[in-house]
Amino acid sequence: AERRATVVAIDGPAGSGKSSVARAVARELGFRFLDTGAAYRALAWLVLERGGDTDDEPTVLAALERLGTLELTVEPAGQRVAIDGHDVTEAIRSERISAAVSGVARTLPARSAVNERFRAIIADAEPGIVAEGRDITTVVAPDADVRVLLTADEAVRIRRRFGDVGGDEFQVGARLAARDASDSKVIDFLTAADGVTVVDSTDLTFDETVDAIVRLVRDRVS
Ligand code: DC
Repeated sequence: AERRATVVAIDGPAGSGKSSVARAVARELGFRFLDTGAAYRALAWLVLERGGDTDDEPTVLAALERLGTLELTVEPAGQRVAIDGHDVTEAIRSERISAAVSGVARTLPARSAVNERFRAIIADAEPGIVAEGRDITTVVAPDADVRVLLTADEAVRIRRRFGDVGGDEFQVGARLAARDASDSKVIDFLTAADGVTVVDSTDLTFDETVDAIVRLVRDRVS
């Protein structure tokens, strides 16, 4: 029989540690890794680079015409991202992009276009892939072998995020909470859909969180 790739879908809010956890799970299992938020961030980068506003839908739709140039490549160090010939791997992590990206994520044609890309990547990921985002368990890969909602209490998420961003802790926390509130209006990533396992990392270390998910995968696939 044809051996199908194993798909692990992980969703969760900002600061849940989703991206680093998903990458470590992929490494442990020898799977590929897909950070879907990076595609939304690359489109936001393109809009801003052209002096546009991500809250203006026609501008986002114009940037979407360049989606064919988006490259998401997996390397041992992580995922590299390029769009329109520019390597934006580091640039898309800026606070400027974080503040603007919700406008892209709210644009439904952008969502369906990037989802097509994600499904194509997932379909030919041998021997398996860990894909993380906000709607992987529900929209992108609802038939994934393992579906996880990774959560953590807000205070813990702000503390974990604070290390990344620097600056005043209160402001960082306020921005994070505002972004989650705005993002969750489009995609409800705060409640687990049917069949999705909640992994609450509030009281877990990074390694314990990774182990919990790796165990779910091994239990399911063996
Ligand atoms: O996970 P992140 O911070 O890189 O996500 C960037 C933005 O993209 C954020 O506004 C949430 C949104 N996003 C989404 O709507 N759906 C996904 N599958 C991944 C990210």
